[in-house]
Amino acid sequence: MEDSGGCCRCCTSFIFTMGLTALFMWLSLRTSKPTCSIQSFLVPALNQTLNTTTNTTIYFDLKLDNGNKDKGIYYDNINLTVTYRTNISLPLNTSQPIKNLTVNGFYQGHNKKAKRNQSFVPDRFDWPAAKRTVSTNGSTVFRVDLATKVRFKIIFWKTKRQKLIVGADVEVDKQGVKIKKKGIKLSGGSQLGCHSLQVGALLNLLAFVFLLSW
Ligand SMILES: *[C@@H]1O[C@H](CO)[C@@H](O)[C@H](O)[C@H]1NC(C)=O
Ligand SMILES: *[C@@H]1O[C@H](CO)[C@@H](O)[C@H](O)[C@H]1NC(C)=O
Ligand SMILES: *[C@@H]1O[C@H](CO)[C@@H](O)[C@H](O)[C@H]1NC(C)=O
Ligand SMILES: *[C@@H]1O[C@H](CO)[C@@H](O)[C@H](O)[C@H]1NC(C)=O
Ligand SMILES: *[C@@H]1O[C@H](CO)[C@@H](O)[C@H](O)[C@H]1NC(C)=O
Ligand SMILES: *[C@@H]1O[C@H](CO)[C@@H](O)[C@H](O)[C@H]1NC(C)=O
Ligand SMILES: *[C@@H]1O[C@H](CO)[C@@H](O)[C@H](O)[C@H]1NC(C)=O
Ligand SMILES: *[C@@H]1O[C@H](CO)[C@@H](O)[C@H](O)[C@H]1NC(C)=O
Ligand SMILES: *[C@@H]1O[C@H](CO)[C@@H](O)[C@H](O)[C@H]1NC(C)=O
Repeated sequence: MEDSGGCCRCCTSFIFTMGLTALFMWLSLRTSKPTCSIQSFLVPALNQTLNTTTNTTIYFDLKLDNGNKDKGIYYDNINLTVTYRTNISLPLNTSQPIKNLTVNGFYQGHNKKAKRNQSFVPDRFDWPAAKRTVSTNGSTVFRVDLATKVRFKIIFWKTKRQKLIVGADVEVDKQGVKIKKKGIKLSGGSQLGCHSLQVGALLNLLAFVFLLSW
């Protein structure tokens, strides 16, 4: 009787320790995707005070923020697509991209931020129509989409490549300047899905440890 009681206690504490170990493993292997945002966006040709379309360059600043406390990120080449939304009421796929850009892949240490300033002349763009929209509507909307794959560096090994596909609308005023003062975060379904999956996994694990320890 005493023997089996001792064995049972031993077994329980073994399982409990295993559960805790699994929890800590999971916590230390957990990764979060970088935060991508547009810090500034400038279209000099839409500046109504200037009233000229000679300068057709468009400028924007992309910021990449690795919020992981102890994991580095390897970025593959980053594909950027800039689209002009001719009519904000219509779905995105009714507008043609005005430019595709590529940012070279790089490594970003933990807790690091990186700026990748971009400037380009659109391949095709109906400037008169865009100017009409800003003058009648007071603003007009561009969209920036980002697609890449990232690997996380955990101590000495690299994870598999994970897709990062995000985007956001950028509203520009009569001066050709981004209206929102703060950075505009690029977001996407895949990132949200991944986050809720992780929360789900944590809850499962907690329930598992709880059941085992009883
Ligand atoms: C718009 O043009 C005016 C006149 O040239 C200039 O003073 C102003 O700085 C321009 N705005 C921006 C955001 O460049
Ligand atoms: C802009 O320039 C055009 C001709 O270049 C002129 O007809 C128009 O009145 C100007 N608009 C403003 C607001 O200065
Ligand atoms: C276009 O406008 C930007 C911002 O005002 C300025 O920095 C740049 O030098 C201009 N480029 C040309 C070719 O005029
Ligand atoms: C934008 O699309 C909506 C819905 O199709 C339409 O009612 C509206 O007239 C369009 N606006 C412009 C400026 O084309
Ligand atoms: C102008 O603004 C209104 C309200 O914000 C919006 O419904 C409309 O689609 C805009 N027109 C264009 C051409 O973007
Ligand atoms: C745009 O996407 C919608 C659904 O998201 C789809 O029904 C529609 O056919 C697409 N239009 C084009 C031109 O691809
Ligand atoms: C950008 O790439 C997409 C496919 O990824 C293509 O459909 C589109 O025509 C390209 N646009 C420009 C302006 O090169
Ligand atoms: C990017 O552009 C911003 C202003 O738009 C400037 O303050 C910053 O120094 C630039 N960064 C780089 C790396 O060129
Ligand atoms: C980026 O664009 C290149 C060339 O079009 C393509 O081969 C690659 O798969 C794209 N990357 C992502 C993550 O979509």
